Amino acid sequence: MFSVKKTIFLRTFGCQMNVRDSEIVCGLLTNAGFNIADNDKDADVIIFNTCSVRKHAEDRIWSLIGSYKGKKIIGLIGCMAQNYKEKAFERDPGIRFVVGPQDIEKIPSIIERLFKNQIVSPPELALREIEVEKMGSGPKARGQSPLLERKIWETDSNIRPEEIYHTGFYHNKNHAYVVISEGCSNFCSYCVVPYVRGPLRHRKKEKIIEEIRAALDKGINKITLLGQNVNAYQDGDVNFPKLLELINGLDGLKGFDFFTSHPKDASADLFKSIRDLDKLSKALHLPLQSGSDRILKLMKRGYTGKDYLDLIDSYRKIVTGGSLSSDVIVGFPSETESEFKDTYEMVKKARFNAAYIFKYSPRPKTEAAGIPETITREEKEGRHKKLLELQRKISNEKN
Ligand code: SAH
Ligand code: SF4
Ligand code: F3S
Repeated sequence: MFSVKKTIFLRTFGCQMNVRDSEIVCGLLTNAGFNIADNDKDADVIIFNTCSVRKHAEDRIWSLIGSYKGKKIIGLIGCMAQNYKEKAFERDPGIRFVVGPQDIEKIPSIIERLFKNQIVSPPELALREIEVEKMGSGPKARGQSPLLERKIWETDSNIRPEEIYHTGFYHNKNHAYVVISEGCSNFCSYCVVPYVRGPLRHRKKEKIIEEIRAALDKGINKITLLGQNVNAYQDGDVNFPKLLELINGLDGLKGFDFFTSHPKDASADLFKSIRDLDKLSKALHLPLQSGSDRILKLMKRGYTGKDYLDLIDSYRKIVTGGSLSSDVIVGFPSETESEFKDTYEMVKKARFNAAYIFKYSPRPKTEAAGIPETITREEKEGRHKKLLELQRKISNEKN
């Protein structure tokens, strides 16, 4: 394909879904004849696989991309790519291609096109390329004809081809991430994920099993099932507990777990599977988000504080010795001091083994972004600190 093999370095941010997507991209690139580097020094192209969940996550990535100052060919993929689309080129002119999470199978051919300097013929324009003139300002560029710089973006697909999950590329020799469902249709009012990852789609159980079997054949013996809301899984008559049972029965598998469950789709059935399946981890991550019923309703979470407490009570009764972790957001728009106290008391009662405490960050397109923020930054930070301290104390006592 190329006279000299091009080398790619991929940097991954965000959740496990992105970690898995980066493996997929490495697998696709390797199969297309590219080298994968483990540092940016040797790379011809640097790909940022990015996260949009909070503004802070995006800011960090923009500043890292900016630090290359056009010295490398930069590709933006992942959730920020979907969030900004072609606007990313304006934000940082060093970016040469932008590919959303539903278009990742096109990455190898996009990079090939960047290295080929052919003129774009009309049918190819359908691929949505633009050519912008790179205006050299330094003395070397003066007097030369301007170089055409090609920029490509692909953010329109809403499905991923099943084949991308079967490249056989894994970063870890013993452990594999396995996506069981893509996207999310819950539209929690604060969350950007449904906008950047698309609606919930379930992979076929046969394909999931096929992928796991292939990983086991490579000597991998631990897996983590991934999805934004794994316990909503449904393929025909196979629901999430049934899928867990099928996977538990696979020869060669030593252990597995899953990430993330949603309280509204969790039930005693799931907890019984956790109890009964010998290879399944007894740990459960069950995001609470808030302890105030009014805020939970505004968040569109579909449960009350009491529902949540009943649920974890049931989990602890069924799965003895299980460990529970959670996510909590402080400073949701209009959250009062007394509503924060409800969350504080809830975290005290729930006694999580671990909890991630986040400061609310308004995200474009989401419903909550339209609710005026009433609390100050200092108040938000104060609430964050208080809850962190409480959880740190509980974690220390428990572990
Ligand atoms: N699908 C998973 C989580 C995805 S995002 C779930 O539903 O649990 C991971 C965590 O980031 C969320 O649980 C939430 O606590 C936090 N989060 C999401 N959007 C946020 C926002 N706009 N501001 C602050 N935290 C947010
Ligand atoms: Fe976001 Fe809610 Fe979906 Fe989780 S369940 S990804 S928080 S919309
Ligand atoms: Fe971030 Fe996208 Fe995951 S927004 S949390 S990388 S799904």
